[in-house]
Amino acid sequence: MKPNKTPRHFLSLLDISPEEFRGLIARARELKALLRTGEPHETLKGRSLAMIFDKSSTRTRVSFEAGMTQLGGHAIFLSSRDTQLGRGEPIEDSARVLSRMVDCVMIRTYEHEKLERFAAHSRVPVINALTDLLHPCQLLADMQTFFEHRGDITGKQVTWIGDGNNMCHSYINAARLLDFRLNISCPPGYEPEAWILQPASDRCSIVTDPATAAAGADLVVTDVWASMGQEQEQRKRAEAFANYQVNAPLMALANPDALFMHCLPAHRGEEVSAEVIDGTWSIVWDEAENRLHAQKALLELLLNQ
Ligand code: CP
Ligand code: NVA
Repeated sequence: MKPNKTPRHFLSLLDISPEEFRGLIARARELKALLRTGEPHETLKGRSLAMIFDKSSTRTRVSFEAGMTQLGGHAIFLSSRDTQLGRGEPIEDSARVLSRMVDCVMIRTYEHEKLERFAAHSRVPVINALTDLLHPCQLLADMQTFFEHRGDITGKQVTWIGDGNNMCHSYINAARLLDFRLNISCPPGYEPEAWILQPASDRCSIVTDPATAAAGADLVVTDVWASMGQEQEQRKRAEAFANYQVNAPLMALANPDALFMHCLPAHRGEEVSAEVIDGTWSIVWDEAENRLHAQKALLELLLNQ
């Protein structure tokens, strides 16, 4: 392990430049091709990634863990249920200790501020694997997936339907970096944070009515109505979001070749109909797979600089 005095973190998409975002997409596509043809690409041989999970995960855990193995490194799964983090050891102390032992730390937690405090005390790069505020790794995969299916996203129209949540915030940041239009259709009271939206207001707008928001879309995206940590709001949210389902009549308002994405896990019959997620608009399985390739490119960028 090489001690790194000024580590490069990835806490938000805004931690990378537009050029780096495009570079990550290109490298992710290369890594995907190398994996398909069985060519070794052990660019992180002997390196370790600690993965801290305060929330559940399927895709994020498996993609980071398999990705590190494929790059010749190793990943260590740490749940707050069975580490000292869950018993009150200060986050700053955990950061100081772990970052003397591993080359990179990935964290999924609730408060974004907790991730920032960890990063401030870490000697090695820290990756945001989802907080209540942002989910930037998902956007690396989503953008790779769009590029693979439709080419460059600059100038395209994306429509977000549903909660102004961590995914919506990361779509706003992606629109700033890659210069696409984003219509955001949320029930009143569930809009994204104004301080995240405001700097992107030249290309991102709130369009409350889902049908108006979906008109002319090249890509329609949604997410669960109640995110992790909001389980007790499920019923209230189901009422508020009842008119915000992505279904076939809504997709019919988008462009004829419009695509559908969802970060998963999905609730068929709630935020998306089965007809859409299992239909020809949907590229959610490619999107899920690309978590692996996009994060491998990210690990290389952060660890091999
Ligand atoms: N999309 C996503 O982050 O999935 P997991 O919660 O399964 O990691
Ligand atoms: N918005 C969702 C995304 C899950 C990957 C959540 O935070 O639970």
